[in-house]
Amino acid sequence: MTASERWWRDAVVYQVYPRSFSDGSGDGEGDLAGVRARLPYLADLGVDAIWLNPFYPSPQADGGYDVIDYRDVDPRFGTLADVDALIADAAALGIRIIVDVVPNHCSVEHPWFKAALAAGPGSPERERFLFRDGGPDGAPPNNWQSMFGGPAWTQVPDGQWYLHLWDSSQPDFNWRDPEVPALFEDVLRFWLDRGVAGIRVDVALGLFKAEGLPDLGEGMPTVGPGVPYVAQPETLETFASWRKLLDSYPPDVFPGARAAVLEAWFDDRDFMAPYMAHGQLHQVFNLGMLGTPWSAADLRKAVDLALDVCGDSETRAPWVLENHDFPRLVTRLGIDQELVRNPTIEVMQGKVDVDLALGRRRARAAALLLLGLPGSAYLYQGQELGLNEHLDIPADRRQDPLFTVSGGMIIGRDGCRVPLPWSGDAAPYGFTEGAGTWLPQPADWAALTVEAQAADEGSTLALYKTAIRIRRATEGLGDGALEWRDAGPDVLSFVRDGVLAVTVNLGDAPVELPAGEHVLTSGPLDGGLLPRDTAAWTRLP
Ligand code: GLC
Repeated sequence: MTASERWWRDAVVYQVYPRSFSDGSGDGEGDLAGVRARLPYLADLGVDAIWLNPFYPSPQADGGYDVIDYRDVDPRFGTLADVDALIADAAALGIRIIVDVVPNHCSVEHPWFKAALAAGPGSPERERFLFRDGGPDGAPPNNWQSMFGGPAWTQVPDGQWYLHLWDSSQPDFNWRDPEVPALFEDVLRFWLDRGVAGIRVDVALGLFKAEGLPDLGEGMPTVGPGVPYVAQPETLETFASWRKLLDSYPPDVFPGARAAVLEAWFDDRDFMAPYMAHGQLHQVFNLGMLGTPWSAADLRKAVDLALDVCGDSETRAPWVLENHDFPRLVTRLGIDQELVRNPTIEVMQGKVDVDLALGRRRARAAALLLLGLPGSAYLYQGQELGLNEHLDIPADRRQDPLFTVSGGMIIGRDGCRVPLPWSGDAAPYGFTEGAGTWLPQPADWAALTVEAQAADEGSTLALYKTAIRIRRATEGLGDGALEWRDAGPDVLSFVRDGVLAVTVNLGDAPVELPAGEHVLTSGPLDGGLLPRDTAAWTRLP
């Protein structure tokens, strides 16, 4: 395969959370018309592709990851015609579209689940899900816990229980029932036929559960090797067949293959290697940096681990510093970094001191690290604006099941899903023509709007734009080699393909930069030295 056929290896992918990106209809929620209208912004930013979080019909019990119909659009987001128009308009600007596929579970409102409830125990309708009888003492069928807390089982009126590894509104499919893989093959074809360039596979390692649904062993971690609902061998067969399906699609508007990226946590080479083997899907997200503190040693470890896990496989690490499931980078980097390493209950409640100026400074440096690493880079909407987590959303406005299921103990993920600020001095900051927004925006985002930052050469938006432009123009950035330079224990420093050095100073004292042209810095240099919490790209002579 040629480099452009393997576009996914070094693409800059922008993640759009449709409900919060831009509102075209004036109802206070973002939609596909809003995304379409803002495509010129994304083209100007320089991204290669857009990953859209789910926009399918859904009661939105878990931000659209509770799907009623995998082959349609929720009216709140638009219509299938809007998707087609979005794909076409994006293609005209050189931007690919990636859609989210949610194969582990659906919504309790999905017609299959309704049919399963109506049909009763032992029916083929129930076979599509994981219904079981409970224990003799009224206990659930096994000891598995939901990722949102509480048992992973809910009892229905006839006495049986159904499995849901996530919210009780998200029943898990039974992937051993042939109707389930057949449904998802259709779903893949449906979107590939419409011209999407890629898919993101939600909860990718969860599809199959061990036969007999055995208890989770005492003291076992809830994810990882050996867990009975993670990475069963049949998953590999499914993904190999999906790879064949994707490969059977000829290049359409763009040169190159249709690609897939798996949502999975990896921190173990042996565990992940089979998913990166020849004939498997293209990429596995590398999410480790989401929980890594601002420390040279920890970040280097995270980078080395990802490079080691990917090894010389076809995949390249898709680096992620933010997504819709994690607190914003600026906020994470603006708190005591011990709390990133070991989050306390206070952190999960949002009761924590944040130094936003420090967080922003570090987040700007982190941007040059992200875009300087070998592989593709994912940006979550608003990351390019340096948005902070909105920690003060009133309880009655919060939507995340993490908040509700925990009885309000954990604030959950709403704070990174707040509608984007586009323009103006006050909420709704140009997000909608309507009166309000579905989640409230902070009162102090006027300086962070796209409008304000577009007019400021020193803005975080300008930094991302310049970095992406240089990345595109520089052979060796993106999909090239990385070689570490020794620059002391508090400095991350590496050279890409012998051409460009990336240096990030995480220590207190300013440090020397390699000789060459400093083509981009995340903040001003100090007498030629790189100050703390600052990064530089240096073109070597
Ligand atoms: C993934 C999504 C997350 C969702 C979960 C269950 O981890 O990123 O937002 O809650 O799957 O679908």
